[in-house]
Amino acid sequence: PLVSMRQLLDHAAEHSYGLPAFNVNNLEQMRAIMEAADKTDSPVIVQASAGARKYAGAPFLRHLILAAVEEFPHIPVVMHQDHGTSPAICQRSIQLGFSSVMMDGSLAEDGKTPTDYDYNVRVTRTTVEMAHACGVSVEGEIGCLGSLETGMAGEEDGVGAEGTLDHSQLLTDPEEAARFVRDTQVDALAIAIGTSHGAYKFSRPPTGDILAIDRIKAIHARIPNTHLVMHGSSSVPQDWLAVINEFGGQIPETYGVPVEEIVEGIKHGVRKVNIDTDLRLASTGAIRRFLAKNPAEFDPRKYLKETVTAMRDICVARYEAFGAAGQA
Ligand code: G3H
Ligand code: 13P
Ligand code: NA
Ligand code: ZN
Repeated sequence: PLVSMRQLLDHAAEHSYGLPAFNVNNLEQMRAIMEAADKTDSPVIVQASAGARKYAGAPFLRHLILAAVEEFPHIPVVMHQDHGTSPAICQRSIQLGFSSVMMDGSLAEDGKTPTDYDYNVRVTRTTVEMAHACGVSVEGEIGCLGSLETGMAGEEDGVGAEGTLDHSQLLTDPEEAARFVRDTQVDALAIAIGTSHGAYKFSRPPTGDILAIDRIKAIHARIPNTHLVMHGSSSVPQDWLAVINEFGGQIPETYGVPVEEIVEGIKHGVRKVNIDTDLRLASTGAIRRFLAKNPAEFDPRKYLKETVTAMRDICVARYEAFGAAGQA
């Protein structure tokens, strides 16, 4: 059935596990996520970004998710709108039947200019009033994450391994997070704890202290009833990077957030873990390898099927690692 995010995350908090929230753009991703959830008996959060809505169109995404609910009626599914940039955009998603929306008021409507606290509270509170009246959950964001636009954390905002600013200067402040939750009544809160969006998170192998675990603890202690959300949680699998580069790709050396660190975050209050890039990498690697090895093949179903398998394996691994397996 379609459920609200509040329902799933309350259960996750009660039983101390985390839920991966996978971005969805097409049929193959949807199948991969559902087959993995079915295999591991995990609840599902699927999220549609602005880019996904532009690519597939909101009605197609909606029906893709409803089709998943129909084919897997025993699995609870949250239909979540990722990174809404205005209350009007969230309202449209609510009208379409999304059971959860993110109002990201940390950025202006252009999706890249940082805003001030009062703006963020105003747009988020407006969205909460509207959403809660419809039984829809709301995720807000406070703090400064890496860029969505470029996917290059270092470029626009100076955050990241090559950036000029230190991550610690931009982490979410626990007092401000508590004030924000009190002022807006959000169900879930995205926090800046050292991650950034996209494939280019870190240019050197992670040394075991990527996430600001102490900061997660401090925030969780101040707002124990608000579910913490970690964006930019892809692990950037080195085996898939190698496959992509072996079969004609050119992706520079880059690293993501190690799964063990995410698991540590979950121990201290992180409940929703956003993953998009990892499925993109697996999908691209699978297609490059298949076409290189089968140069005469031209039936898209043949190589798209490879992407489903590649993405499904990653989904299974995350459901198991985060403790969501067996919780559906
Ligand atoms: O949060 C960001 C996701 O990775 C979505 O990216 O807008 O290119 O679909 P996208
Ligand atoms: P990644 O780019 O690390 O997969 O993060 C996705 C995300 O945070 C979507 O909101
Ligand atoms: Na932000
Ligand atoms: Zn995000």
